[in-house]
Amino acid sequence: MSYAIPDTVATKGPFTPMRFEATVEECIVTHGEIPKDLYGGIYRTGPCWKRPTAQGGTPLLAMDGMVQGLVFENGRADFRNRWIRTPKYLLEEKHGRSMFEYSDGGFGDYRDYGYGTVKRTKENAHTPQGTNFINIFPHRGELVASGELGSPPNVIDPITLETKGIVDWAPALTRGIHDQVCFGDGAFCAHPKWDEDSGTLYGWTYGDQKPFVTMHYIHADGSVQSRPLDDAPYNAVAHDIWLTPEWVVMPFQPFIIDAKRNAKGLAVFGWEPDLPVVLALIPRHNLQGEIRWINTDLPPQYVMHTLAANVQGDKLVLDAPVFQEPPFPMENNFSPGDQAALFFSNAASYLGRWTVDLTTGETKAEQLSDLPSEIGKVDQRYYGKGHRYGFQIGGQPKRRGMRMDSLIRNDLDKCTEEVYRIRDDKGLAAVLEGSFAPRTIDAPEGDGYFIVPVAWWGERKGEFQIFDTDDITAGPICKIELPFHMGWTPHGHWMDFRD
Ligand SMILES: [Fe+2]
Repeated sequence: MSYAIPDTVATKGPFTPMRFEATVEECIVTHGEIPKDLYGGIYRTGPCWKRPTAQGGTPLLAMDGMVQGLVFENGRADFRNRWIRTPKYLLEEKHGRSMFEYSDGGFGDYRDYGYGTVKRTKENAHTPQGTNFINIFPHRGELVASGELGSPPNVIDPITLETKGIVDWAPALTRGIHDQVCFGDGAFCAHPKWDEDSGTLYGWTYGDQKPFVTMHYIHADGSVQSRPLDDAPYNAVAHDIWLTPEWVVMPFQPFIIDAKRNAKGLAVFGWEPDLPVVLALIPRHNLQGEIRWINTDLPPQYVMHTLAANVQGDKLVLDAPVFQEPPFPMENNFSPGDQAALFFSNAASYLGRWTVDLTTGETKAEQLSDLPSEIGKVDQRYYGKGHRYGFQIGGQPKRRGMRMDSLIRNDLDKCTEEVYRIRDDKGLAAVLEGSFAPRTIDAPEGDGYFIVPVAWWGERKGEFQIFDTDDITAGPICKIELPFHMGWTPHGHWMDFRD
């Protein structure tokens, strides 16, 4: 079958799909030099449109996953990208067409997310519907790509980017928002955190049916500990957590998910600001131990991505960009027939702080910056150990949302920020989430490099800019160019090869 690339917000501009697999050896350096001591890779994953769905649509969350990797060694960088060969991808390759019809694939407007339930047929009866394009992270010497809902994660080879198969701990995972259709068909979150010393990965599965969230801790030996959160208050989109030395801190916020909403003509996501913000403090070291529930009287704010957690005496300090409503089109802002882009054109977030008094349980909210920002990162070696430094992408308010054009380095102790503007008003580029790479494996927290992918979609070029954390305001110390548009990727991580 042949088809044109559809003229939709999910396939234009920064979302223009790459649609080919490339290997670029010895990438061109257009500015500066690649630090010779960098040995590892920055990996990204994102949705990439391959073909229309069975209903002819292009919902972003039904697209196949593409993994990208830029690997550094001895001052050289090699780039690869590969489709992630999930069961869905392989089934559709075999048939040469989309094999799934989505309950949110036929509205023809902003409600088409492609996260709804699929119609089961003889051909797709036992194939998980999901893809693996939300995040990719190192675990047990390999990479794990996760799609959050609808499919278990896949293992990706760090050099070839070959899909090596479903993670061997998938049978321990639980139902997301879809019925499981085969052995090992469990869902896994997009933003797990991990302990660099023990290798334990702190993850979970969430859904729209009780218990709403089940924790899954994956240990270095591959064993899994699980616990349903039987007291979880409601079906929140459990997208991210904070990790402290003692707890996984999971926020329940009024951004909800319910696959049954599609039957009522609504998007799978909803915003119900009357629901309270509740924090679950889940023990890290004794998963079956007592969970402390903090019922806050915080306003209906939304944290999509956490930045840093620090415990100071009897205060739990939770830092994150905070939205006043989620950056997802829903019925509170859109009407049937409306088209809408996802994410930062819909809402702006500002670095904020929720402080929990661990003695009284009282929680207060503050705003720390007037600069719109999101997609933050920290030094991942210090996950669960506390952070002084954070790195975000941010910029200017733009209509209801924000324009992402700058790199921000936050000093969370001093509540100060440094800013470097990566693109001006004319440059057509998506400045994507960056990743921190330490200067050496035992460098102090936050000391090293911050690598920012910049998709110059107007010029159909890709770029990675490397900043020295000593002074990001001096601009990138190195720019690495790709001779094509590299598409949009929401998340990824650094994987270090030095040890
Ligand atoms: Fe995310």
